[in-house]
Amino acid sequence: MKNNVFTQVQLNFRSALKASFYPALLLMLGFSLLAVSCTKSDSQRIPDVTVEEIMDFASQQLVILIDETDAAIERNPMSNRGPHVNSRAVRDGELFIIPSRDWTSGFMPGLLWFMYEYTGETYWLEHAKRHTAHIEREKTNAGTHDMGFKIYCSFGQGYRLVDDPHYRDVIVESARTLITRFNPTVGAIRSWDHNTDRWDFPVIIDNMMNLELLFRATQITGDSVFYDIAVEHARTTIDVLFRDDYSSYHVAGFNPETGELTAQHTHQGAFHASNWARGQAWGLYGYVMSYRFTGYAEFLQQAENIAEFILNHPNLPADLVPFWDYDDPNQPNTARDVSAATITASALYELSTMGTNQSAYYKNKADQILASVYHNFRSADGENFGFLLERSTGHLPHGYEIDVPLIYADYYFIEAALRKQRLEAR
Ligand code: GLY
Repeated sequence: MKNNVFTQVQLNFRSALKASFYPALLLMLGFSLLAVSCTKSDSQRIPDVTVEEIMDFASQQLVILIDETDAAIERNPMSNRGPHVNSRAVRDGELFIIPSRDWTSGFMPGLLWFMYEYTGETYWLEHAKRHTAHIEREKTNAGTHDMGFKIYCSFGQGYRLVDDPHYRDVIVESARTLITRFNPTVGAIRSWDHNTDRWDFPVIIDNMMNLELLFRATQITGDSVFYDIAVEHARTTIDVLFRDDYSSYHVAGFNPETGELTAQHTHQGAFHASNWARGQAWGLYGYVMSYRFTGYAEFLQQAENIAEFILNHPNLPADLVPFWDYDDPNQPNTARDVSAATITASALYELSTMGTNQSAYYKNKADQILASVYHNFRSADGENFGFLLERSTGHLPHGYEIDVPLIYADYYFIEAALRKQRLEAR
């Protein structure tokens, strides 16, 4: 009897175990599958986006941006650095307008040129021309390296689309102004004139972006002086700003008399040895573009190495939009930088055309970034004064433009979309 009772208890226990074990097992299996799909393959599950969807959204938003910008300039025409001309950001919930001297003044006209390129419509052409004309005065401003950002993104994009000899002259004059900042002893163009207590002659990773203006100036004039300086600058940047893992510092300081390297710093990143996210994206874009103009294998190799650094970074979120600095210890409780993602996507599309055995991989990653940004980071329809994307970060250490819409995130987003269109039309 005892045995029987014991057996019965055992049987009851076994069937109870069975009854709870199998559902528990299924539950555990479900959780494991969910965990795997949330980590490894999250980026693969981002739904696709078409160029048409992006451009339809952009046309609706940018009409608003034009009107809001015009209205804001009418209310407040002058800054203490010259007349307001274009929009840069949303700061503290307000549209932030800027004079032509601002490093971002070329992006809004550039966006309007992209819209004209896509639609062929006079509306975009007229507004693109009007916003481009405002920036011409920068062609003689030798006080900054940002000439490429300002003039190439406006006049340069315009000249690609309309054969206006005046645009060509502005590009060439701007390039002549920019090369006055080249120091042959250092082998680079001086980036900034500020913070001379920290560095004597600074060269920053962003400066790679200004080389496109110089390469174009040589194409237009046949004068190799611009090309030679651009190539030397790009080589010096590899030597002094990159680490062994192909991540980059933000700022290198030099003694301008001897050419000696005196500092490897950050300005916008978390700390000197950290990886400021937009800086990594500028570097990638800069070397892809330098390879386009020169065909030098060293630049293609550099671009591929930077791409690997970015795409394999353990702190890159599954949605492929980085936090503002890959090394911010507060991740994930810190700001994203969508601009770093859109610059990267645009560069990867071009890199995918350069005949490496990774072409399909680069194209696929660029597609994923574009889709992620479109689905997860775009403005609600009609919101954000017509800006396209939210959640970029301009300068976190100085406490401004954190987690906001920024014009250059939108510019590279649309450039990337048009590159995708060209690629897929082949
Ligand atoms: N070129 C300035 C910046 O990327 O914030």
